[in-house]
Amino acid sequence: RGGSLSPTNNNGNKWHYQLAASATLAEVPTTPIPGMKPGTSGLRKKVEVWQGKDDTANKYYVENFIQSLLDTAQANNGGEMLQTIIVAGDGRYFNDQAIQIICRVLAANGVENIWVPQGGIMSTPAVSAAIRTRDGGAAQGGIILTASHNPGGPGEDFGIKYNEGYGQPAGEEFTDALYERSMKISSFKTMEGSPDIDLNAAPGTTFSLTPTSTVTIIDPFAEYLEVLKSCFDFDAMKDFAKRPDFSIVFDGMHGAGGPFARRILVEELGFPKESLMRCDPRPDFGKCHPDPNLTYAAELVKKMGLKPDGSADESAIVEDLPTLGAANDGDGDRNLIAGAGCFVTPSDSLAMICDNWKAIPHFARAGGPKGVARSMPSSAALDVVAEALNIPFFSTPTGWKFFGNLMGSKEQFGKRDYTPFLCGEESFGTGSDHIREKDGLWAMLAWISILMDVNKDTPPGQPLVSVRDVVEKHWEKYGRHFYCRYDYEAVESDAANKMMDLIRDQFVNGDLSTIPDDGSGIKLVGAEEFSYTDPVDGSTTSKQGLVLSFVDGNGEPARVVFRLSGTGSAGATIRMYLERYEQDTSKHGESAPVALKSLADRAIGLVQLVELTGRDSPSVIT
Ligand code: G6P
Ligand code: ZN
Repeated sequence: RGGSLSPTNNNGNKWHYQLAASATLAEVPTTPIPGMKPGTSGLRKKVEVWQGKDDTANKYYVENFIQSLLDTAQANNGGEMLQTIIVAGDGRYFNDQAIQIICRVLAANGVENIWVPQGGIMSTPAVSAAIRTRDGGAAQGGIILTASHNPGGPGEDFGIKYNEGYGQPAGEEFTDALYERSMKISSFKTMEGSPDIDLNAAPGTTFSLTPTSTVTIIDPFAEYLEVLKSCFDFDAMKDFAKRPDFSIVFDGMHGAGGPFARRILVEELGFPKESLMRCDPRPDFGKCHPDPNLTYAAELVKKMGLKPDGSADESAIVEDLPTLGAANDGDGDRNLIAGAGCFVTPSDSLAMICDNWKAIPHFARAGGPKGVARSMPSSAALDVVAEALNIPFFSTPTGWKFFGNLMGSKEQFGKRDYTPFLCGEESFGTGSDHIREKDGLWAMLAWISILMDVNKDTPPGQPLVSVRDVVEKHWEKYGRHFYCRYDYEAVESDAANKMMDLIRDQFVNGDLSTIPDDGSGIKLVGAEEFSYTDPVDGSTTSKQGLVLSFVDGNGEPARVVFRLSGTGSAGATIRMYLERYEQDTSKHGESAPVALKSLADRAIGLVQLVELTGRDSPSVIT
């Protein structure tokens, strides 16, 4: 690719680069590439597919996908091409090359303003914030290069997802239309001979790719920081961070969340830089699986004085442990929360944030959240708090986009306004209506705020009220929802589907009274397939998980949900979600996987998981 973008003037250190003389707008013939159907959160494929390496028919994989995306967005926008789009990624392998390709396609299609963060990296929540508020207005969309918590690097995953103008992931209608379009595409537009832009240029630097299309390098942090400042009391946190007995550790898992943690926790709030681990983004996430759960965040889990199953390691000295620990996934939207010797399950964390709403200015200003929601497979810990506080509550299908509708304003939907809104998922996602994505760092700041609040009367020198104290008190008040999840990764798709069909045939549509006892005393008493009708737009989503209801040996209710993951890129991942309610405080100390083991065994036996999949143990328990 010849030519160069040459600087024309220097304004401070912000340069303006003119259109390269050699660049020409080209319409390149192409053919549809099958399989471009976005899943729960964008299109994810092995990076070699995106690079067009595995097959010459895939040569223009990125171009085909982006052209289909733009055509769909344009059709949705009354036939007008979008004017402003942000392009950013989580820094995984192929991030920078993909940004360059995408900028050329956007420019050739007439997108006037293309915003790219300095370095090309932004966490998903930061992109959502920037789409919503940048320049006092909003971008019309965001193209986010991420496969979230899936590993990166050669042989691993790459993904692209699209967020619409309010900063929320595009809905199914959009992604279905995009897929349709991708099956009909016959050409794409690009700028040929247009050299790469300098992703490391100073914010404010602009590059003219055509006479009407400009790429502007933006500050990745600005809008996100503002939004977080509107949610939390930064001054009070800054003071609290000074307490010598309060310490944190944040694990960025070498993903996009790291630089944001540095900017906010260290530079803004004044925590020592030693509080950060793995906060430098790497294309292969340092070869780790950037999913913040008990299995993949093992190092943090250990640092927090926990055993791999999440129970307290009795040999750890609590006084030497950090007060609060958190990890983020590859694109910084997921979170794991732990206190010293205390793992907080995502479902519990959500319920506890809800119960402690007064500690969070965003909620406190409004007298508490006006609506709360959890995904169906998440535990009912939130439900009981919502009931006690008399807050409207929703159980939605898995996928953050289902929360977005509920956060809409009265003006948009002519119905109720549920904001401020609080929501979360068992899959380590927590957040609110401050943006339209889950937000890993937000969850950590929420927990810092809770600890500040419960310690407002703890004088210096006195032991702090700990995360464990908060958790135990909560269970005392509401009972404990024991919860854990088994994942069976890379199962053969046919086998996984057979198992789901068996559950449908034998339990959802079958006769439960004929099921033989296995001596465990755990009885299956109900089965259904979850479907959801959106209370705002009336749309229905079906086949969202198979729910088995049990009564355990003591007559207490228990539940097991089976669901196939929607975020993988090869084979199938079976998720088995286990939950059991326990009122009795004397039993709350038990470790969750232990407390749920017999329920798990019973369910595995009933659905013939071992026989059908050949797996006698899960890949992950979290
Ligand atoms: C993404 C979505 C989440 C969703 C999760 C489910 O992270 O953003 O909203 O909960 O995927 O993943 P799964 O693999 O269980 O389909
Ligand atoms: Zn993610």
